[in-house]
Amino acid sequence: MVEKVVSRVWRPFTPSASAPAVRVLSAEGAFLTLEDGRRVLDATSSWWVQSHGHAHPYVAAAVARQASSLCQTLFADFTHRPAEELAERLTAMTGMHRAFFSDDGSTAVEVALKIALLHAALVRPEARRVAALEGAYHGDAFGAMSVSARSEFSRPFERLLFDVDFLPFHDPVPAMETLFSRGQTAAVIIEPLVQGTAGMRFYPPQILSDMVRTARKHDVTVIFDEVMTGFGRTGKMFACQWIDEKPDLICLSKALTAGVVPMGLTLANERMFEPFSAGETLWHGHSYTGNAVACAAALASLDLFEQPETWRQIQALVDAQAAGKSVLTAAGAQNVRSCGVILAFEVETDGPQGYFNEIKHKIKSYSLHRGLAVRPLGNTVYLFPPYCTPLDDLRRSHEILAEGLTNAWRQI
Ligand SMILES: Cc1ncc(COP(=O)(O)O)c(C=O)c1O
Repeated sequence: MVEKVVSRVWRPFTPSASAPAVRVLSAEGAFLTLEDGRRVLDATSSWWVQSHGHAHPYVAAAVARQASSLCQTLFADFTHRPAEELAERLTAMTGMHRAFFSDDGSTAVEVALKIALLHAALVRPEARRVAALEGAYHGDAFGAMSVSARSEFSRPFERLLFDVDFLPFHDPVPAMETLFSRGQTAAVIIEPLVQGTAGMRFYPPQILSDMVRTARKHDVTVIFDEVMTGFGRTGKMFACQWIDEKPDLICLSKALTAGVVPMGLTLANERMFEPFSAGETLWHGHSYTGNAVACAAALASLDLFEQPETWRQIQALVDAQAAGKSVLTAAGAQNVRSCGVILAFEVETDGPQGYFNEIKHKIKSYSLHRGLAVRPLGNTVYLFPPYCTPLDDLRRSHEILAEGLTNAWRQI
């Protein structure tokens, strides 16, 4: 078995916060090196942040260069080229107008909600409510929790969360039409094409496009939370590029900085920015807003996305994941599906379906023992590989999971 260590670290999203954890010594490309020298495939891309691979020399060099010239400056009074260039490049790529810097996915969502609600207060004061999809997950800050599905995660804080209208995940448009026609909805927040934490639930671009058109018809601001889907996961740079309609606000984080340092970004279109260019103030900011080292990492990552080789790798992973579906289906996996580089399936098992199903512990330890680091969402298992993952290793992961399905998980 892989050895685990106890420390004074209070770990996130872990029921027994002091339970032992596996110590990682280093990481390179798609692999983590554990303390006992074993190399394991980072099949969650380290909670969906890795993209080009750990310790990528081009990104590391850009970060080192930036760290030795300018790391952080008060961002309300000063600016710098890395932040300006990043804002220019990302707004050009998405058709947005402005970029507001924050710290992570949750704060990118908080900022989007504040912009949308401030905008509505000025132009449609009767519209004060926010809508979201059932099963949504947008982060752990209070605003982000409010627009996320009510769950065990948020239960202790439920009375402190603001009231949100949740739309059905399947066939949301008729309910949206009814809700929005009441004229009280300021904004709707959507994870485009993939609801990650809900259990890697995928839906087609047509539904996304219909949702945006319905919101437009009723003057409802559209927020796309691309914290997870951004930067190639769905097979295109951004999930919003699968449709013609554009959102008003886009939240970015995770792979934004190629998994090197944290940063959040909220992109706003011209309509959203208008009141703020006319004198309104967004009273929001963080100490590390516009961190120059994070910007340098993000710029280096964008450079890598400009290389055809990156997109060849992504397409090869998309194809390999699609091909892996038959291997897993043959082994008894349920509802095997892929979207871009993500492959997911359910394991048929007793107990609660979803995040709190205990089989995840067996799957994790079984897989880790075989060189594969996964973190199932309960009985939903997924592979979310960094783009540099060798195809043979990805195929081997399909086999490891298929072997687990056919025999070992029952025996552990
Ligand atoms: C879609 C989405 N939005 C927001 C977040 C929150 O991001 P962070 O954990 O960086 O605060 C996550 C995290 O998993 C996410 O998947």
